[in-house]
Amino acid sequence: MTRSTATQLSFSLHSAANRMVRLHKPILEPLGLTFPQYLVVLELLDGGPRTVGALGAALDMDTGTITPLVKRLEAAGRVSRTRDSTDERRVMVDLTPAGRSLEAAVRGVTGQIKTACQLTDEGLDDLRRTLDALAIAPRGLTAPDAPADALHLAERDNMKIGVIGTGNIGGALAGKLRAAGHEVRVANSRGVEGVRAFADKVGATPVDIRGAVEGVDAVILSIPFPAVADLPKDLFDGLPSAAPVIDTGNYYPGLRDPQIAEIDDGMVESVWVSRQIGRPVVKAFNNILAYSLAELGRPLGASDRLAVAVAGDDPDAKALVAGLVNDVGFDPVDAGPLAEAWRQQPSTPVYCCDWNAQETRDALALARPGEAPAKRDAMMETLAKLGPSPTHADILASNRVVNAPT
Ligand SMILES: NC(=O)c1ccc[n+]([C@@H]2O[C@H](COP(=O)([O-])OP(=O)(O)OC[C@H]3O[C@@H](n4cnc5c(N)ncnc54)[C@H](OP(=O)(O)O)[C@@H]3O)[C@@H](O)[C@H]2O)c1
Repeated sequence: MTRSTATQLSFSLHSAANRMVRLHKPILEPLGLTFPQYLVVLELLDGGPRTVGALGAALDMDTGTITPLVKRLEAAGRVSRTRDSTDERRVMVDLTPAGRSLEAAVRGVTGQIKTACQLTDEGLDDLRRTLDALAIAPRGLTAPDAPADALHLAERDNMKIGVIGTGNIGGALAGKLRAAGHEVRVANSRGVEGVRAFADKVGATPVDIRGAVEGVDAVILSIPFPAVADLPKDLFDGLPSAAPVIDTGNYYPGLRDPQIAEIDDGMVESVWVSRQIGRPVVKAFNNILAYSLAELGRPLGASDRLAVAVAGDDPDAKALVAGLVNDVGFDPVDAGPLAEAWRQQPSTPVYCCDWNAQETRDALALARPGEAPAKRDAMMETLAKLGPSPTHADILASNRVVNAPT
């Protein structure tokens, strides 16, 4: 009789992972490295210095795992930890000369493993692709929403945040971030005096768009989608790369926005935004309805807490944005790199449905390329069916049906 465990994919993966670690052991022991330490050294050889959070995100390890690992490597003289000169709050990890001296030996490990596994290059590539697909497809939060990272994020109190656009989304965020204790500057299209009344209402500082960018830790860009193209091209030149620009935008051609050929041809909306402003962005707060953002925030750990998808390429920038999502009452969910942000664009399964964190992860994984734009373009018809003044519950129920994968 075949053993039940032998037919389980999970058991095959578990056994293969154990064997892989066992194969590494005799190769790594002479170098004084454990398998996880070897992974950290490899990451740092590919690009250091890095924050502990960024290393953890790259290696899919939570803070509770990566922090002691780094400490042990530091005690062994292989890595150093120093404060970032541009941001005192961040601790940067890098290889010491002793750590760097392991490079040739560490980079030679893969060849020895390949021989031990008796796999061809082609076989190895196929296997890696299959395993990556298994590991990445249903991916949810990595660094940003792990409880340990919430502690890391809690260090970032009293941030200076610039908000450009004080409408439904930017306005709600400005008020909530101010209430969470951050220093908030707000700008709209009408200069300092044009935004003063709103700023006074939420306790923010009225500024023009340049004032919203100067010396801040993060900028929230929440203006009508096509207006991004008209912002001054040098607007973000002085913003340090560690300060993320958060793009809340959604593209509604025909309905509200003019056609943008690149996006119609398949460019991810936030990639287009990042090209317009000449720097990377983190996409967040685009997949939540204005009502939900304003009214449905809950404290961390609440059973009815809703989630917000966060996509971007820089793990530190994402962790910072995740902290802001948490500050305004929502669970941040990692939606992958910016190239994957099509998964949270209008009319995808995760779009404006008031999902919790697990439902958000599932919905992101269920998105299918090319499926959403047709639903988005039919939105006027969809809305018309709800009558002249739909309630939030009506809109939600409709979104959950219409945006579901077909
Ligand atoms: N509404 C939603 O439920 C929702 C949900 C998620 C994401 N989004 C997306 O988030 C973005 C903002 O949406 P919203 O509903 O908050 O828009 P909104 O209510 O129309 O507000 C737009 C804001 O942008 C400002 N603005 C326009 N052009 C500007 C410029 N060139 N420079 C500076 N400020 C400018 C406006 O200032 P003035 O008052 O001076 O005109 C206004 O404060 C859009 O891309 C939208 O698709 C919306």
